Amino acid sequence: MTSRVALVTGGTGGIGTAICKRLARAGHRVATNYRNEEKARAWEQAARAEGFDFTIVPGDVSKPEEAAAMVRRVEEALGPVEILVNNAGITRDSTFHKMTPEQWNDVIATNLNSCFNVTRPVIEGMRERKWGRIVQISSINGQKGQYGQANYAAAKAGMHGFTISLAQENAKLGITVNTVSPGYIGTDMVMAVPEAVREKIVAQIPTGRLGEPDEIAYAVSFFVAEEAAWITGANLAANGGQYMGW
Ligand code: CAA
Repeated sequence: MTSRVALVTGGTGGIGTAICKRLARAGHRVATNYRNEEKARAWEQAARAEGFDFTIVPGDVSKPEEAAAMVRRVEEALGPVEILVNNAGITRDSTFHKMTPEQWNDVIATNLNSCFNVTRPVIEGMRERKWGRIVQISSINGQKGQYGQANYAAAKAGMHGFTISLAQENAKLGITVNTVSPGYIGTDMVMAVPEAVREKIVAQIPTGRLGEPDEIAYAVSFFVAEEAAWITGANLAANGGQYMGW
């Protein structure tokens, strides 16, 4: 197989860690960014103990200059980014009538503006080299909406609009752009949902359980494979059957 340079934003989080590990096991050279150096170094050490050699660089993806600097540092360390996974994301859940401008803006900036901020510095190189894989990690809640997540659902739905436009613009240049829409996965983000609310959500999942981070990483590995060259503009749901839109 061909070893590619992969940048996974938010790689130190629950789903991000699984994506980094799966891409590394597939032979790719994987980088991620961090905002909290102490947490990131601990993550790097734990991964190293398992035999992974990740490149970690500072950068807040919600800020254009920091995202551009982050891409530059990754490219200096590993070479041009060939696989980009826009995975970084946060929640600031609140019913809309109580939502503050900060809760709205933080989620739009980190989950959606980040797609512009990180993809913009890598797309020209991908177009010149005529090869690229871009994957947005959206959410089931971008597809179906969610009580308490007007900000998050707007950002996540926006990510797929971004996917399908970029997919059209870059299809002739060997670049595929796709979305994975995870359902509720057993990560810190989902465990932060009040237990009573979470139990009601799990009861709506046909598989009867939360997903595993690696079940999302598997979907990402499908899209970034060399053989997936004709799959672009797709949105792959991985949600245990909780939402079966088509
Ligand atoms: N549908 C209908 N009514 C609901 C509801 C729902 N899904 N959830 C809450 N309500 C109702 C409650 O029953 C309650 O009604 P009463 O006042 O009549 O009793 C009212 O809304 C207020 O509910 P809360 O007491 O929970 O209100 P709150 O302000 O304390 O919290 C909330 C509101 C922040 C939205 C909280 O309910 C919550 O955290 N919900 C979970 C949201 C969620 O699913 N987030 C996903 C995070 S994980 C993630 O985002 C990853 C991913 O991609 C899947």
